[in-house]
Amino acid sequence: MTTDGLGPTIRPRRLRTTAALRRMVAETSVEPRQLVLPLFVREGLTEPQPISSMPGVVQHTRSTLKAAAAEAVELGLGGVMLFGIPEHKDATGSGAIDPSGILNLAITDVVAEVGDGLTVMSDLCLDEFTDHGHCGVLTADGKVDNDRTLAAYAEMARAQAHAGVDMVGPSGMMDGQVAVVRDALDAAEHTDVSILAYSAKYASAFFGPFREAVDSSLQGDRRTYQQDSANAIEGVREALLDVEEGADIVMVKPALAYLDVIRQVRDAVDVPVAAYNVSGEYAMLEAAAANGWIDREPAILETLLAIRRAGADVILTYWAAEAARLLR
Ligand code: PBG
Repeated sequence: MTTDGLGPTIRPRRLRTTAALRRMVAETSVEPRQLVLPLFVREGLTEPQPISSMPGVVQHTRSTLKAAAAEAVELGLGGVMLFGIPEHKDATGSGAIDPSGILNLAITDVVAEVGDGLTVMSDLCLDEFTDHGHCGVLTADGKVDNDRTLAAYAEMARAQAHAGVDMVGPSGMMDGQVAVVRDALDAAEHTDVSILAYSAKYASAFFGPFREAVDSSLQGDRRTYQQDSANAIEGVREALLDVEEGADIVMVKPALAYLDVIRQVRDAVDVPVAAYNVSGEYAMLEAAAANGWIDREPAILETLLAIRRAGADVILTYWAAEAARLLR
């Protein structure tokens, strides 16, 4: 190992000598094409509305949403994920299915703006549209009714496909949701509309700021449908089931507290794996940076690189546009 008096002969530091050499041997990279920007559009807004728990993120008007999507094309991002916030909510989330519901209108707006320059994705879930804030419809005794919810998801998938979406993102964690959405799309001759399945989605405290972003009405929690943080094997099971049901991409969410799950899912499936760098992960870093406790830009890039290194091919992140600029 060591040559007499000369110190070690094996020196891993040699490959770290210059920036050029470090760049050459880097195992992982982050590229704008791998990033998807989540965007919020709110019905009835005349000005973009800041989200206090997510500094720098806003609820868009229909027109500022189009501008944000056009910028995403400019920056070479992989896609945008659209979330709609309706003016009126009801028990069944009918605004999600209504062709003139805010999300469906926004899909058409954005697709008209960006064409094929970007993959336009939409959240396929009822929680923004229900007055109780759950991801599905409820039984008489207040439980989330899996199978009646599936019927609503099928209709929502048809409405989003009709509005022109490229890829739907079923995020409600109902059993069988991917199969039902695939069947509904195919039956309506939308065989080219793809599915980004929220496969391993955990009942997480890190969704906190998102609930403000979408004016969530939720009381209680989602523990009867979202996964228990204790379980990784179950996350792989969910991903495998979704692939079997027809998912084109499977996703793990949140990202940072679940890097092990991202790795295990990556090793288990033969489709692209996405990870959602969620609102709470964004808010933590932004709050620390605002206090001068962390160096913001390198921390953002390190975060995204870590998610890639864990095995994510695609990352949904509120920093997508900024990261693309930093990476230029
Ligand atoms: C549900 C949905 C949620 C998020 C994305 N889709 C919230 C939830 O399950 O409560 C969270 C995203 C984030 O925290 O950034 N439609």
